[in-house]
Amino acid sequence: MAPLTLTTLLALSATAAAAANSEITWGAVVFTYHGEKVPALSNGPYNLSPVGANQLHDAGSMLRSRYIDPSSNASALITAAPINGLSTGAIDNSQMYVLSTEDEFISGSALAFLQGLYPPRNAVMSQEETILSNQTLQMYPLNGYQYPSINTVSPLDFNYIWIAGNQECTNYDLSQLKTMSSQVYSQEATEYSGFYQSLNQGLFSQLDPADISYDNAYLLYEYALYQYNHNSSFYNDPSSSAIIDQLSFLASQSEFGLNTPNSDGNVPAIAGATLASVIIQQFSHVISSQGVSDKLTLLFGSFEPMLSFFSLSSLSSGPAASMFTSLPQHGSLMAFELFSYPAENSSDTFPAVDELWVRFLFRNGTDDANNLVSYPLFDRGNEEVDMSWTDFVAGMGAFSMNEVSDWCNACQSATLFCQAILYDTQSSSNSNGSPSTPGNRKKDAVSPAVGGVIGAVVTLAVCAILAALLAFLGYRIDRHGKKRSGSAAAADGPAGIAGLRQSNSGGGFKGAEKLASDTDLALKDGAGASVTRHERTGSWEMTQNPTRAGLERDVESGKAVSSANYARRSEDGLGNVNPFGDPVKPLDQV
Ligand SMILES: *[C@@H]1O[C@H](CO)[C@@H](O)[C@H](O)[C@H]1NC(C)=O
Ligand SMILES: *[C@@H]1O[C@H](CO)[C@@H](O)[C@H](O)[C@H]1NC(C)=O
Ligand SMILES: *[C@@H]1O[C@H](CO)[C@@H](O)[C@H](O)[C@H]1NC(C)=O
Ligand SMILES: *[C@@H]1O[C@H](CO)[C@@H](O)[C@H](O)[C@H]1NC(C)=O
Ligand SMILES: *[C@@H]1O[C@H](CO)[C@@H](O)[C@H](O)[C@H]1NC(C)=O
Repeated sequence: MAPLTLTTLLALSATAAAAANSEITWGAVVFTYHGEKVPALSNGPYNLSPVGANQLHDAGSMLRSRYIDPSSNASALITAAPINGLSTGAIDNSQMYVLSTEDEFISGSALAFLQGLYPPRNAVMSQEETILSNQTLQMYPLNGYQYPSINTVSPLDFNYIWIAGNQECTNYDLSQLKTMSSQVYSQEATEYSGFYQSLNQGLFSQLDPADISYDNAYLLYEYALYQYNHNSSFYNDPSSSAIIDQLSFLASQSEFGLNTPNSDGNVPAIAGATLASVIIQQFSHVISSQGVSDKLTLLFGSFEPMLSFFSLSSLSSGPAASMFTSLPQHGSLMAFELFSYPAENSSDTFPAVDELWVRFLFRNGTDDANNLVSYPLFDRGNEEVDMSWTDFVAGMGAFSMNEVSDWCNACQSATLFCQAILYDTQSSSNSNGSPSTPGNRKKDAVSPAVGGVIGAVVTLAVCAILAALLAFLGYRIDRHGKKRSGSAAAADGPAGIAGLRQSNSGGGFKGAEKLASDTDLALKDGAGASVTRHERTGSWEMTQNPTRAGLERDVESGKAVSSANYARRSEDGLGNVNPFGDPVKPLDQV
């Protein structure tokens, strides 16, 4: 049954290829799993290994031949679907949005991927740039290396939830603990303990015996795979590939269970829900800019968002179910493409929203033999791999988590931005609106998990500096949502932390039905849409809002807040001190 399904799918993707000439790709969003790294169970530093860098470089070159330059033939299997207007020569960072977490093996993966996507280019860029006054040529170093702009975010920046929604999510951690202490799980652990113990003397001899159990299934698999690639005595052991297969099976089973919805709800799959949101957001930017902005979005992270997405989007229960219940291989990528079938002679006009289509493709690992294959989402049939934009948004909207505040609530996260958001929600329901002091603020105004998250002294100092700076520029932080009147600055979001770009849209974010038509996706009161920080020179949005001062845009996008270095996330135990409390207060009177 399974091989038949696969053949059908391959045939389908070949059909899509034949049609490729009459199709225009307007944008793509790609999530890529990082490459091989030094395993967590060995001694650090846990950087990307050369194998991992090559895996990602390969993934990048493969996408280059699909989206940029069909003649680069990275793999004969890849059919071209060039993105309309995407620069084919020199990298144009204003056309792309690249988001990575700050883990070095993930940001390193992003860099390696981009080296494959836009390889060194030893060509004259422009006369003025390249030629010196004395008529000598000056190229970029490393044979014309191209410099990508990569947004590397830490958990201090709420944008990281789009690619790693499971991190810093307290309820996700609690749910994992709960699952692991359940009876089913302990039975499994007992069942497999014999297998794990049998590797104590050989493969796992360097590890602490206490770590060798089903509870660490993923970490042990990662360790073993690394040994397989780098330790010749294990590689040459005749049983090694059987051992790897079994470890991979157990790791997949365990992680799939831990990252998909369970009887307690969707929190285990939260990383898939936030990923779905950023995909819709990025496509909405493509649509609202008529195909000018965010042509290619590249997201980098770990496997959790993938497993969660497999489950939420019904890939793990659809026609290819058996394949989508296991861990992806390093360098695997999920691609979403937005395209249309234009009428003859109208190929460069952006189509109406109801003429847009989306498809999902997956590439498992980075072997040359591994093609990009399209699969149906949302329990659709094999012949429905291409779906209309409206259907896509409805399908994604059914499980996507679009608001940062929803994430904070679902997670009860103790991150700094959640402090601000959760507190703001509480205080705006305070009808008297009188200045709240730490004394009269209700204890539960801040989430319980919070206690002492922040090194308060550092934070308050940063806030004071920030406040002074903003006041100087005439920006008004209004943290009492209810009180604000129609001032333009305040219209965009809570507390000015997470407000929005572009306020020229009428509609707010109302859920799935609304999404399709509301291409602008201005998430009123929501920080969601602020994933865009289009402070790019010459970008489409600059033209729309030519008068905006740089810092104001940064504030709207959350950048001014989130890029500040709060220096530590200490567990100092300083109590429920709210970082956006009183130091910001005087600004209310500005
Ligand atoms: C693509 O393949 C052809 C034939 O195999 C080769 O001549 C050409 O140089 C390749 N292009 C690139 C960019 O490697
Ligand atoms: C031209 O100027 C560059 C930089 O000042 C210098 O490195 C180079 O040697 C000069 N070339 C000639 C021919 O003078
Ligand atoms: C290599 O693998 C063997 C098992 O085949 C193991 O005993 C040995 O400790 C490993 N070497 C290192 C450096 O981990
Ligand atoms: C990816 O590869 C792994 C290992 O070969 C396999 O178990 C899994 O089913 C594959 N997944 C997909 C979606 O092809
Ligand atoms: C498209 O353009 C070509 C030449 O530019 C013309 O001959 C043809 O009639 C046009 N087709 C339509 C449908 O307008």
